[in-house]
Amino acid sequence: MTGVGAENLGHHFVEQLVARGAKRVYATARRPELIDVPGVEVLHLDLTDRESINAAAAVARDVDLLVNNAAVFAAGLNFTDGDPALIRGLFDTNVHGTLDVIRAFAPGLAANGGGAILNVLSSAAWATLDGINVYGASKAAAWSMTNGLRSELAGQGTFVSALIFGMAATPPLRAFADAVAGPGVLDALMTDPAVIVGRALDGLESGRLEILADQLAIDAKAALSSDAESVYQTLGAR
Ligand SMILES: NC(=O)c1ccc[n+]([C@@H]2O[C@H](COP(=O)([O-])OP(=O)(O)OC[C@H]3O[C@@H](n4cnc5c(N)ncnc54)[C@H](OP(=O)(O)O)[C@@H]3O)[C@@H](O)[C@H]2O)c1
Repeated sequence: MTGVGAENLGHHFVEQLVARGAKRVYATARRPELIDVPGVEVLHLDLTDRESINAAAAVARDVDLLVNNAAVFAAGLNFTDGDPALIRGLFDTNVHGTLDVIRAFAPGLAANGGGAILNVLSSAAWATLDGINVYGASKAAAWSMTNGLRSELAGQGTFVSALIFGMAATPPLRAFADAVAGPGVLDALMTDPAVIVGRALDGLESGRLEILADQLAIDAKAALSSDAESVYQTLGAR
């Protein structure tokens, strides 16, 4: 499990995996001191540091479920006026870093019978907004990568799934939503992160290739079959 922090999605993932009786749960982070969940093994893993990824994979050799949850959100970062180094850095983490983790853990998954990978994506991959355009594009790339990996890893028996949702009330998302819309204005659109994680684990158990965990994700997926004119008029673009 990557990207475990205080009260974030990763925190709820490892907590619920322990509660569901997982034999061993590895909680990884670039700041492991933030991990506060009893019953997990804590490891340092930074998506931009391949040595740390390989070191974690060498320790966690019994993994049969890899959850790629870590990502940079970088609210406010747009294509035209964002710092090019930050734009590259965001893709380095969200796409290349995630791929590095998958490549490091795939042999272990194969050795453990195939297992499963869950990539935590976002409905921003399908419907973006100014302020999260770069992030949305990175999640779109990660979505396509997930679909490609599914067929590449089928041969070793690894099941690859995507978790997609719009808004979970984690600290960074709350801060972004309050800043763009005003304090509390978007609260009704947010789902409790524990609920998102519960839906993710249920979806995995029932073999869903794509787990749409809130209404925003369901609507964004449905809108993919609409004309771009109607979708982007709704989003305020010309
Ligand atoms: N919250 C939402 O509404 C929402 C919606 C759709 C998708 N998602 C996705 O859900 C996942 C979890 O998001 P969240 O809301 O729980 O936000 P979060 O707290 O920012 O979680 C992201 C985690 O990734 C970690 N991370 C960032 N860069 C890293 C790196 N280079 N190496 C290792 N870890 C790194 C962060 O660690 P640091 O604390 O050290 O930065 C943090 O623990 C993300 O993939 C996000 O894109 C969230």
